Amino acid sequence: MTLARKDPFVVADDWWRGAAIYQVYVRSFADGDGDGTGDLAGVRSRLPYLARLGVDAIWFTPWYRSPLADGGYDVADYRAIDPAFGTLAEAEKLIAEARDLGIRVIVDVVPNHVSDQHPWFQAALAAGPGSPERELFHFRPGRGPHGELPPNNWPSQFAGSTWTRVPDGEWYLHLFTPEQPDLNWAHPAVRQEHEDVLRFWFERGAAGVRVDSAALLAKDPTLADAEPDDTSGYVDRDELHDIYRAWRAVADAYDGVLIGELWVPDPERFARYLRPDELHTAFNFDFLTRPWDAAELRASIDRTLAYHAPVGAPATWVLCNHDVTRTVTRYGRADTRFDFATKRFGTPTDLGLGRRRARAAALLSLALPGSVYLYQGEELGLPEVEVDPARIQDPMHARSGGVDPGRDGCRVPLPWTAQGPTYGFGDTDTGSGAPWLPQPPGWGAYAAEAQADDPRSMLALYRSALHLRACQPGFQGHELAWLDAADDVLAFARGAGLVCVVNLSAEPAALPPHREVLLTSDPLDGDGRLPSDTAVWLRT
Ligand code: GLC
Repeated sequence: MTLARKDPFVVADDWWRGAAIYQVYVRSFADGDGDGTGDLAGVRSRLPYLARLGVDAIWFTPWYRSPLADGGYDVADYRAIDPAFGTLAEAEKLIAEARDLGIRVIVDVVPNHVSDQHPWFQAALAAGPGSPERELFHFRPGRGPHGELPPNNWPSQFAGSTWTRVPDGEWYLHLFTPEQPDLNWAHPAVRQEHEDVLRFWFERGAAGVRVDSAALLAKDPTLADAEPDDTSGYVDRDELHDIYRAWRAVADAYDGVLIGELWVPDPERFARYLRPDELHTAFNFDFLTRPWDAAELRASIDRTLAYHAPVGAPATWVLCNHDVTRTVTRYGRADTRFDFATKRFGTPTDLGLGRRRARAAALLSLALPGSVYLYQGEELGLPEVEVDPARIQDPMHARSGGVDPGRDGCRVPLPWTAQGPTYGFGDTDTGSGAPWLPQPPGWGAYAAEAQADDPRSMLALYRSALHLRACQPGFQGHELAWLDAADDVLAFARGAGLVCVVNLSAEPAALPPHREVLLTSDPLDGDGRLPSDTAVWLRT
């Protein structure tokens, strides 16, 4: 299926400004052929579930041909689906079937690096020092009398060195693992190729593109050493804006949307990427990393809205994704912030408390103006799993010397049924493969099937909230006005008399005058007050 440009469905409107977008980590979502690895057949069989949940779009983490050295963020061919997941024809079918259910598809493009198995890198290795093939990457001679020292001191995003030496003596740069060589974005062929890749997926009906590691592509051409904590050689460089302006021109021809994965802490610098001729939106990691604390969350919301307004971009709200600790676990810990540096095995966790807070946080984030991202299993209230270190595949774990549990704990294959050898993840009639990561005992209690008819379940809460968010007046638009409230209580009004109150204090809170309670994350107390760690949506 090739879509004509300006397809009426895709043109529709600024759907992305208020969309609810569901992230599918294909490997762990649903396994159609029963080999233990999730795939496109599995996703296709679960599209009705996503439609019933009420999401507007699906963002697929990379589904391209890949050796999976970093869960698919090591792409060997941007125009092919990994055979473990399916085929390109099947991806096209999936996009069409999702469209028929009113769900758009967002693909994930990984421009900072390719797999070391990508033909470009293989050609660069074969061609040798000084060749044009090596100019597509950052190859350099080493330092020291025999070139035995890496060309500079940049630290990896995944611990360890950013340089690997090849047999002819040259070194190549990789901000992530050695299996992910960084591309040289100063080279015109690199730019041309990625603009073509965008067209390729827009032509196949993708409504948007998530841009992986979007702040890292451009490098200081001198590759000079950096002082500790100075990332200016490879993070948030000014050259990036020109790259994204060119991408925007490509996307605009298809009414496609560009979503940046930008870990840029300075909100003013962050917002520069969202100017009208650059990316459409970007993940709000400031909000994601905040602790369960009223003042911190309110400050983050205010800062987010203040910095987005001048560039005319909608905010986004994200509580978790495939890289971070699952929300119910994070909120059940003494330290409720998210920080890559502090993840450890054996952190004490009160899952009951975390679940209450995650429910309240769901209503908070779904009530804020802008678009919202859900990560698969968030709607089931899945906790982070402590995966047996011998089974962990995430390179973050090994590269930390085994100290960091890595990110597999939020990537455990989903439970669909309460019973069964894989809790419905795999089709045991067609295959017998155990899930690629082990599911913990009791995983079936979180199954979609087990929650579907329980009005108190996390799934029921998300379904109700997404439904109200889509059809109640007041959630549209971008206005937000804070209301007076007790200490550690967040209360704000949206349009049309819609009010959200979140109680982060230890005491029950009185509700403001209202006509109707639309939804609560947990029941009100006997006096009609909002208990601790509970949120409510009101019509006033
Ligand atoms: C992004 C992805 C992460 C991946 C990294 C390298 O941060 O979200 O999963 O490991 O980029 O591509």
